[in-house]
Amino acid sequence: MERQGQFMKTQYYTAASLDGFIATEDDSLEWLFSLGDLGDSSYPAFISEVGALAMGSATYEWLMRNAEKVVAETGSPWPYTQPAWIFSSRKLPIIEGANIRFANGDVRHVHAEMRAAAGDRNIWVVGGGDLAGQFYDAGLLDELIVQVGSATLGKGKPLFPRRVLSPSLRLTSVHQMGTGMVELRYEIHKGNYNKAA
Ligand SMILES: NC(=O)c1ccc[n+]([C@@H]2O[C@H](COP(=O)([O-])OP(=O)(O)OC[C@H]3O[C@@H](n4cnc5c(N)ncnc54)[C@H](OP(=O)(O)O)[C@@H]3O)[C@@H](O)[C@H]2O)c1
Repeated sequence: MERQGQFMKTQYYTAASLDGFIATEDDSLEWLFSLGDLGDSSYPAFISEVGALAMGSATYEWLMRNAEKVVAETGSPWPYTQPAWIFSSRKLPIIEGANIRFANGDVRHVHAEMRAAAGDRNIWVVGGGDLAGQFYDAGLLDELIVQVGSATLGKGKPLFPRRVLSPSLRLTSVHQMGTGMVELRYEIHKGNYNKAA
């Protein structure tokens, strides 16, 4: 899909530790907050181009558990204006004011709904890593944008539990964010898709 010659993307945009984890084993993100400020990152420009987003239940439950922090930072318990799809096999409560719907199973049907809702903007797969992997498996992921923190966790929730080898994954930009983070952008080339797990 294109807008004025520009390709509408499905993007996995996230932050990870240097050793490839997006959260600790018990879903803490405390290690991340001291590494950089979201306002100084590419996030404001990125989110302005997002028309729909998807996340797994652990990510959604993190937002529920940390509602006070989210309100303090964004002014609302639900920080997104775009329609959002929450993947879960369980019945979860709805965060007040959130424009969300729940999804279960094959990501391809949901992606088609998201594409229609996003219009001429991008789709953001917020996480976790396996959910982004499900979009990848279905041939639907175009870009991986990772802010790699100057910290290691040893273990935790994986960034992207798939095997994707170059040339499918092509580094398109590197941006240093002070001493605490570096942002790496990768295009995922569908022609060379490597589906080996
Ligand atoms: N560092 C960052 O920038 C960043 C970004 C995003 C998230 N995070 C954090 O990283 C952690 C991610 O946790 P996670 O790896 O466990 O991933 P997650 O994707 O947030 O949650 C995984 C759960 O989502 C549900 N799910 C996934 N795919 C599904 C499908 N196709 N159909 C139905 N349900 C599905 C399943 O749970 P149920 O069926 O039991 O509900 C699954 O166990 C969270 O703590 C989050 O806060 C960090």
